[in-house]
Amino acid sequence: MSILRTLDDFELTDKRVLLRVDMNIPMQGGIITDTTRIEKTVPTLIEVLTKGAGIVLSSHLGRPNGRPIKKYSLEPLVPVLKSFLPNTNISFSPDGRHAAHPGEIVLLENLRFNPGEEINQPAFAEFLSKLGDIFINDAFSCAHRAHASIDGVARLIPSAAGRLMQRELEALDQALTHPTHPVAAIVGGNKISTKLGVLENLIHKVDHLIVGGAMANTFLYATGVTVGSSLCEEDMSMTARNIIDKARYSNCIIHLPVDAVVAPKLSDGSASNIASIDAIPPEKMILDVGPGTLDNIEAVLGTCKTLVWNGPLGAFEFRPFDAGTNAVAKSASRLTEAGKLLTVAGGGDTMSALANAGVVDNFSYISSAGGAFLEWLEGKTLPGVAVLME
Ligand code: 3PG
Repeated sequence: MSILRTLDDFELTDKRVLLRVDMNIPMQGGIITDTTRIEKTVPTLIEVLTKGAGIVLSSHLGRPNGRPIKKYSLEPLVPVLKSFLPNTNISFSPDGRHAAHPGEIVLLENLRFNPGEEINQPAFAEFLSKLGDIFINDAFSCAHRAHASIDGVARLIPSAAGRLMQRELEALDQALTHPTHPVAAIVGGNKISTKLGVLENLIHKVDHLIVGGAMANTFLYATGVTVGSSLCEEDMSMTARNIIDKARYSNCIIHLPVDAVVAPKLSDGSASNIASIDAIPPEKMILDVGPGTLDNIEAVLGTCKTLVWNGPLGAFEFRPFDAGTNAVAKSASRLTEAGKLLTVAGGGDTMSALANAGVVDNFSYISSAGGAFLEWLEGKTLPGVAVLME
């Protein structure tokens, strides 16, 4: 059996640790708008420094395609790091030529400024490997990328997972690999076509699949429901029917909305009403789940021990169409607090939706990973995790 190597496997005193984190954080007009990803890596930084190592810190930001582009420089993140670690000497190294002494952090420039990063070029991996005695990867959210700073370098020097990566993998393991049944999954979002792999994998793993968001419209349409002017992938009907059939053989119950909040258009405060799912007016769009559907979802969650959640149930960016997602998020968080449900959620939209619902601190685990979380839900092997187990 492969076991994840962790910080516990190394003596760190006086070592140089090359640490890969995900500081691909949102910025608007040069202003950092959310530092959650940096904050989450702080426990690993503190542990490595406290154990007497120096840290060469590396990350990517954005997609500069192998060229240095000023707006993607990591230099502005030095003061952010200092705000979390005020007593640590933190400097910036544009070329990797600055050594990190024990107790210090040297932040490298954006890895993706080098064309060798994304193609996992051996020469770039080797350059990185010379910067540390040990490689620690704390970026689960990048683990689906077989890049030089994730895969190549981990093959050249002793490597292990950082504490954030470790916690993330433990949570995901409890949620889907070795969960306590019954397990429910909520999958929402706009399109079946972007989450086909996720749906196909989940029907073999979970007892209840609750489908929401516009992708539920496609399932409804595939079963003969008229969905008015709702977003719907008509050409995915056959695929949706196949998923329903396969789920039946796997003893996975698919739950679709029985009613909906409908409105003539998608905008804040648009006049809306509740409609039964078999009576959606032709000129109206389904924008959220209705009260009957919420009762059904709550009843299902009440019987489950584990919940995996990816994707909102309605158009949560617009009020009042966030109400369904908020209500289910609050039920799930109450069940979590009562010790009755293990709740693991992930994905960019999901994080925002759960933040909007005010439950971020109440779930068992919320992953800040987007693409990596989806690939994990698809059951794929993530190269950045596999390499830490070989
Ligand atoms: C993310 O934000 O999901 C990770 O940082 C990976 O970024 P990428 O999709 O640009 O590889």
